[in-house]
Amino acid sequence: MSLPEEARAMHDHLIEIRRQLHAHPELGGQETETSRLIAEELRRIGGYEIRENAGQLTGGHGVIADIRGEAGDGPCIALRADMDALEIEEETGLAFSSENKGIMHACGHDHHVTMLLGAAKLIKDHIHEIKGNVRLIFQPAEECVPTGGALALIREGILDDVDAIFGLHVWPTLPENVLGVKAGPQMASADHFYIRIHGESAHGAMPDKGKDALLAGASLVQALQSIVSRNISPIDSAIVTVGIFEAGHQWNIIPGECYLEGTCRTFDEGIRDTVEDRMRALVEQISAAYGCRGELVFERGHEPLINDKTMADYMRSTYRELYGEEMGIDLDAPAMTGEDFARYLSLKPGAFGWLGTTKKDGEFHPLHSSHFAGNEDVLPRGAALLTALVLNFRG
Ligand code: NI
Repeated sequence: MSLPEEARAMHDHLIEIRRQLHAHPELGGQETETSRLIAEELRRIGGYEIRENAGQLTGGHGVIADIRGEAGDGPCIALRADMDALEIEEETGLAFSSENKGIMHACGHDHHVTMLLGAAKLIKDHIHEIKGNVRLIFQPAEECVPTGGALALIREGILDDVDAIFGLHVWPTLPENVLGVKAGPQMASADHFYIRIHGESAHGAMPDKGKDALLAGASLVQALQSIVSRNISPIDSAIVTVGIFEAGHQWNIIPGECYLEGTCRTFDEGIRDTVEDRMRALVEQISAAYGCRGELVFERGHEPLINDKTMADYMRSTYRELYGEEMGIDLDAPAMTGEDFARYLSLKPGAFGWLGTTKKDGEFHPLHSSHFAGNEDVLPRGAALLTALVLNFRG
């Protein structure tokens, strides 16, 4: 049997696992049942050395499973799946919809865990052909920006002896079963900022007696948009988004406080520094211009996700060998969304691929949508690809 056929034979079992996960989603830092299910399945497969309490900084529900190849010494290849869900009320209408109120696998992490468990079985079946070590990383708290589970695991040393790392994400903007992977930047950094403007409240009819923090805030929101348009080269990419603006509690009072919160995205560390520096200057000086005092807390999340060229090409060609030339593509453009797999790639060579889920003539729902239902047909392909990345590696 070929590897795609072996993976295909597991399809029903993979669907069972996926539905079990989908019906019982857990938030980052609380993945108790998910962790238990993963460890149980790994023990059922056998042959793995399993550690179940990884990532203490983010709840300690990570599962790390190591297996030694029987064909001699060689590199250590890591494969990673994230396992947490989102605070979203599911509206897919699936028979196996979330049983946990207000929590949903809306980012496909149920698929990722399932594909890696499928790979765990296939790798075990092929262990006599494998040189070196394989490490499976079931990572908690991917959605917990900025700390995130990847950082928690890295701090525990899980990457120290790793030579290359690979990961997959289901991707609704790509057609079903198409793998997209790009050398260089593929996803953005994700930073989180908080701004407080302190003024002085006054009667709404005596504005001259106060310092209007809301007015300073309104002016600041506008000015922040000048960073991308006037401080960043038009050839480069950056985003400054204010997502929260809070001021005032009474219709006839000048607000003495204003609060803003948002995110910045870039593909480049230098641009990231420029955005933070300009933001700080605007917060302080625009607040001061209105007689207020502005404070910025700029929390850096993970780096931009940058694929190693050799590894990205390797992932694409491996998939093409399994499923045909046209099924593995080079992406036209990166996405400005973030992914904490970037943390691994900032330390080790590797690649992160997107696996398309949208059926021809099928409905499209983006990730993080309450209608995102995923696609179970991609599960065997993801498992086969992850396995082949280990079997064919010549690093
Ligand atoms: Ni995700």
